[in-house]
Amino acid sequence: MKGIPNKKVLVTGGSSGIGQQIAIKFAEYGADVAINYYRDRAEAETTGQAIEWCRNQVQQHGGKDLLLQADVSKKEDVDRMFDTMLAEWGTIDYLINNAGIQIPADSDALSVEQFARVINTNTVGAFMCAQRAIQYWLEQDKPGVIINVSSVHQVIPKPRFVGYSVSKGGMQNMTTTLALEYAGRNIRVNAIGPGATVTPINRAWIDDPEKRVMVESHIPMGRAGTAEEMAEATAFLCSDLAAYITGQTLFVDGGLTLYPDFRIAWSSE
Ligand code: NAI
Repeated sequence: MKGIPNKKVLVTGGSSGIGQQIAIKFAEYGADVAINYYRDRAEAETTGQAIEWCRNQVQQHGGKDLLLQADVSKKEDVDRMFDTMLAEWGTIDYLINNAGIQIPADSDALSVEQFARVINTNTVGAFMCAQRAIQYWLEQDKPGVIINVSSVHQVIPKPRFVGYSVSKGGMQNMTTTLALEYAGRNIRVNAIGPGATVTPINRAWIDDPEKRVMVESHIPMGRAGTAEEMAEATAFLCSDLAAYITGQTLFVDGGLTLYPDFRIAWSSE
């Protein structure tokens, strides 16, 4: 895709789900991909396997890869991750803020610590990564692109997931604010807003046929999205095809943000 070959990309939460597909997609398009992962490989066998799988895929497609462990909610980890990437590769062109978590609970029972954990990972983590990337681009007087992997829940309320919807609402504002602040410095900031996507974060329904039918019945296009579809939209927004696009969220959601209940004109019948 135009502009992507040989670019250096950092994907947070890049060892599974949407992040993994983004890592592979950028490698397919000729970029070098730094994969941030969260857990210690020795402690989390499944994550380690996903990382190795991802690494093999990236190498098959010809891109160089770099594996960077970091908890994006910790400033010292984010600094170490950026310091290592810049020392190893000398530059960063695209930052993909993909790492994210959600914690389900009735809002009256959710602990403040749980609420803060979600915000610290999804929003503060994304901000700390964005800040490091922007500081580098300003110092070097280089262009750069940030893509925030947000959610339809940046605009659609999500009862029992208040930390998550607040975190993604904040991400929407961060996307527009940073885009406006740095538009004159050739730094573009956009987001994708995935709808229900088949990834491990949705393990509660993806492998349960009955629950999956229920989930997909709410989606106008009648099916969940794939991580690859999210990756294609992310690549497009980074590429030179989107050179004049900044501050936008591209919803990739099969119509979920179109108020599906209004398929029938019930309010006027
Ligand atoms: P996932 O659970 O496979 O991916 C999340 C990734 O973030 C994992 O690799 C995890 O290790 C990483 N992560 C979690 N906490 C971290 C931390 N403190 N530091 C570094 N990495 C951390 O799930 P999925 O679906 O691929 O999620 C990716 C992004 O997409 C998230 O931001 C999520 O909110 C967003 N999203 C997903 C949707 C879906 O239906 N799957 C819908 C809308 C948005």
